[in-house]
Amino acid sequence: MRTMTVEDILKARISTRAFLDTPVSEDEVRDILDIARWAPSGGNLQPWRVDVVMGPARDRLVEIVGKAITEDPSADESEIDIYPPKLEDPWRTRRYQLGEEMYEFLGIARENKMGRLARFAKNYEFFDAPVGLFFSLNRRFDKGQWAHLGMLMQSIALVAEERGLATCMQESWTARAKTVSAFLRLPENQQLYCGMALGYADKTAAVNKLRSSRAPVEEFATFLTD
Ligand SMILES: Cc1cc2nc3c(=O)[nH]c(=O)nc-3n(C[C@H](O)[C@H](O)[C@H](O)COP(=O)(O)O)c2cc1C
Repeated sequence: MRTMTVEDILKARISTRAFLDTPVSEDEVRDILDIARWAPSGGNLQPWRVDVVMGPARDRLVEIVGKAITEDPSADESEIDIYPPKLEDPWRTRRYQLGEEMYEFLGIARENKMGRLARFAKNYEFFDAPVGLFFSLNRRFDKGQWAHLGMLMQSIALVAEERGLATCMQESWTARAKTVSAFLRLPENQQLYCGMALGYADKTAAVNKLRSSRAPVEEFATFLTD
């Protein structure tokens, strides 16, 4: 069997939004983290903290958050804005396109607000993945360290992909940041940023057939050559 190159893995990784209940062992998760920890960070600060929920702990969290959503579906416990308040183009269109494509794959029409909400709530079940990871940073850190955390997250996703596992990064968890932080017993000075679902992809699920697009290099890179 041909070994996957970095290019293969980068292009194969997608946000998986339907998982099988095939278990992932603690050793496998530790192993992925053990490799991903070689991600770079400015000054080698390694500012990240990762909390893993699996087994009964994962199920308990999903239940607690599920109850909280039933009680108050629109509660917002975020301390950070996932997107700027007025998203302009080209970013606005990209976001819109992704949403529309995803709901089209799922067969949920725009008017079906309840259907879309219910689908969004699958985030809070890790899309059925058996493992959830949470990423947080000490509150004293600024933009630089947030970028470093991203390097770790992408590294985890790529190592998982290499091992035949799938991931979905999930900023959506920030809407339940207080509940999750309390569950994880995060120290007060630790700010929750993002979740990540980890498990085996349900390759038959329509939503996993979605392939998001990317702008060509000319749109985001400038070359000054003389
Ligand atoms: C930091 C981060 C947070 C994300 N949060 C969510 C999320 O909460 N729910 C979700 O379904 N997708 C989430 N995504 C997935 C993005 O929508 C996805 O990465 C993007 O559309 C590109 O598609 P791809 O990952 O399949 O290549 C997130 C991605 C990143 C990088």
